[in-house]
Amino acid sequence: MGPLPPSADDRLIWDMWESQFRLPVATVADEVGTFRALGNAPMTTEELAVELKVDARALSIHLGALASSGLVDKHDGRWTATPAARTWLHPDAEGYWGGFLFRYRETVPMHAQLLETLKTGKRPENQVAGGPEWERGTMSQEVAERIAKFMHAHSMAPARGAAQQSVFGQISSLMDVGCGSGVYGIEIAKANPRLTVTLLDLKEMCTEAQKYVEDAGVTGRVHTAGVNMFEEEWPTGHDAHFFANVFHDWSEETNKLLARKSFEALPSGGKILLSEVLMDDDGTGPWQAAAFSLMMLWGTLGKQYSLPEFREILESAGFTDVQAVRTGGGYYSLVSATKP
Ligand SMILES: C[S@@+](CC[C@H](N)C(=O)[O-])C[C@H]1O[C@@H](n2cnc3c(N)ncnc32)[C@H](O)[C@@H]1O
Repeated sequence: MGPLPPSADDRLIWDMWESQFRLPVATVADEVGTFRALGNAPMTTEELAVELKVDARALSIHLGALASSGLVDKHDGRWTATPAARTWLHPDAEGYWGGFLFRYRETVPMHAQLLETLKTGKRPENQVAGGPEWERGTMSQEVAERIAKFMHAHSMAPARGAAQQSVFGQISSLMDVGCGSGVYGIEIAKANPRLTVTLLDLKEMCTEAQKYVEDAGVTGRVHTAGVNMFEEEWPTGHDAHFFANVFHDWSEETNKLLARKSFEALPSGGKILLSEVLMDDDGTGPWQAAAFSLMMLWGTLGKQYSLPEFREILESAGFTDVQAVRTGGGYYSLVSATKP
């Protein structure tokens, strides 16, 4: 008996933590009138945002979660309430559940926070996610330690899944940009003994990553580089750049800047690789990506992107051959593209 080593499949844990969003995203929709509006007429996201007086970007993220919960549908760019929602969640329906669900607006704290994100398009004040910390470009060592620990737990299984991908056997030098604890770079190095890895992050985070590198016994092949990825020159000489859970922290515009910086620092033939949980092409799910996107809305400036959205971002920087494969047994995919 005792502890077991991690695998590449932690869906049981993901399903558990993401379930915190399932009820409040519906009680928020009930409160702002989504089911009445979409039960009466199909609407685009922008039309519905005007009708409900909410933020359109936040609404598109909320609608993805409602769609993957079976409460709204999307056809030809317009949203409608599903028959189930028109039966049980339309305020004029005989079977309306609002009288019961009403109490959870008060008792489930995430309700008020998601409501605020929807109305303002901004994350709630005073929450403890990492976004507000790293957006300043500097953080205390104590905060870096907390974020590294948080990200290490969250990313262990997907890192093991990504590390098995054959692309890492075809390169000799990788830079893991926005590495957090370094869990991805470390696992990829462990699975690919000929590979050297540079872990890039803000300098306080690199101090934390160095501890994880030492614990993993890969100090000879994995090194850290304390670099602000927006404000400083990137190290060169790598065959590939790897970003896990980094693009989902930022807007399309900021991601285009990151893609451009990557393109400039890579040699011809170099690869950009993104480990992300992908939304479906039409933004209606799956639930695991949609709930994660609510988390990004709640804690960062980003969201979960679809492959077509990543294609647009990466091609805007000059990358070609954008494709994605699922990795491991969890919900992550590896998006790849090449600098011609
Ligand atoms: C969501 S975490 C991802 C960590 C890791 N890749 C993972 O998936 O476990 C985002 C990381 O980006 C880093 N980051 C944010 N802004 C940065 C900047 N300007 N320069 C370098 N790293 C930055 C943060 O410190 C944080 O470690």
